[in-house]
Amino acid sequence: MNPIDALFTPPAIRPPEKTLPIFKRLVTLADNPIEAWPRAVYEDDFYWAPVPYGPKLLFVSKPEAIREILLDRVEDFGKGTIFLRFLKPALGEALLTAEGADWRWQRLAAAPAFRPDTVAKLTPLMSAAAEKMLSRWRAVGVGKHVDIAHDMVRVTFDIILDTMLSGGEGIDIEEASREISTYLETLGRPNIGDILGLPPSLKKLMSQRGVRAANYLRAAVQTMVERRRSEAPGRGDLVDLLMQAKDPETGRAMSDIELRDNLITFIGAGHETTALALTWSLYLLSQHSLTADRLRAEVQRVAGDAPITQTHVEALTFTRQVVLESMRLFPPVSALPRQASRDTKIQGMNVPKDTIILIPIYALHRHRKLWERPDVFDPDRFSPEFGLERQRYQYMPFGAGLRICIGMGFALNEAVAVLATLMREVRLEHDPAHTIRPLVRITMRPEGGMPMRIASLSSNSTPVVGESA
Ligand code: HEM
Repeated sequence: MNPIDALFTPPAIRPPEKTLPIFKRLVTLADNPIEAWPRAVYEDDFYWAPVPYGPKLLFVSKPEAIREILLDRVEDFGKGTIFLRFLKPALGEALLTAEGADWRWQRLAAAPAFRPDTVAKLTPLMSAAAEKMLSRWRAVGVGKHVDIAHDMVRVTFDIILDTMLSGGEGIDIEEASREISTYLETLGRPNIGDILGLPPSLKKLMSQRGVRAANYLRAAVQTMVERRRSEAPGRGDLVDLLMQAKDPETGRAMSDIELRDNLITFIGAGHETTALALTWSLYLLSQHSLTADRLRAEVQRVAGDAPITQTHVEALTFTRQVVLESMRLFPPVSALPRQASRDTKIQGMNVPKDTIILIPIYALHRHRKLWERPDVFDPDRFSPEFGLERQRYQYMPFGAGLRICIGMGFALNEAVAVLATLMREVRLEHDPAHTIRPLVRITMRPEGGMPMRIASLSSNSTPVVGESA
């Protein structure tokens, strides 16, 4: 068989040929905005979306133009009102949402927690969380169905609490996950009020469930902050780092509210995204046994039956390629919004002040001019010789430029350690009755979760690092 024929093409969003008529567009935007992006977004450099009133909307899919927006002229293109509308009710003025000097010092304060040498030490906790999930699946039993989307959230939530917040005592994982889902389904998605430009306060009034969900998280993290303030520092986790940080320009430290909002940001931004990268990876692997077998063979060769360590993670190059390719086809963050702060130009083209600029990551990753066989699952396109740097502004699941994801190294380490640990032990079959439809709710998740059957599962668990074998 020709190896190219043997590759798998997963279901994809089918873009409308032309801009949708206004009423259909409004309904689609409220239901699943990505389904309103017309074919031009996947084929052209720029696409001006017709908007009946208010600021203009420009899609940018040209790597050189994206570099201008995200790196060279960041002062002209802030995050803008659209982005803040969905995130601010939950995250306040923290790292993801702040701008200018306010952003810069918070980024400096959090940076030490994400240095490669710090992250490397956390790998055993990441593989241990995956081992815990394998034990849960053993209790469920071979032949039974599990929702992988839910279970990956469980694994990554455990990891973020264990690694960044010293266990995050007092936060109930199941309840917090439910509240985050509620938030994403309500205040975190566009409704007709957003599309018509009504004030955010009205949205809150219409979305009391979303407000309650944001309040739940705020209260749980606030209690943790108060407890940690009353303890002497010394755990060396993210909470300690943020409590001790001082703004280099003004010398001020974070208030309780800033600390709380930043911790909510790390919990929110730091687990659901990685859970989705893992969910989509496991789905793609379940559909292509050649790739799954190749990945398992790599894990056996590199780690044998031992728990996955940092040295293994660094040697698991094909496993990493699978994660990168999964995030190309199903990027957990499907678009980056920005807004022009003055009348300006992009690549010589006039862009009026207040124009909303959308970098459509999902379409960019499948752009007809930039990728060969764009819809095909082919992890070999990320082999080391391909040169990831060359694609800096055409492949960007973690964003790019100054506001690039602070957790990128952490997330990649985590995804590789978890995927390797799981794939070595388990075979999963996607439920054929479940239809794959990517649904955008700030992040891009599979509609209806990801039901899978545990087809086989080894009975022995790998000893957890630190335990005697
Ligand atoms: C596969 C997993 C992840 C994906 C796909 C992802 C994606 C992104 C993207 C696209 C941005 C840029 C947003 C923008 O420019 O508007 C971002 C920013 C950010 N991410 Fe991640 N992320 C992931 C994991 C994590 C983790 C594990 C953490 C923390 C533990 C984290 C924390 C943050 C924070 C705090 C920001 C804001 C950074 C800033 O503005 O300085 N993310 N992420």
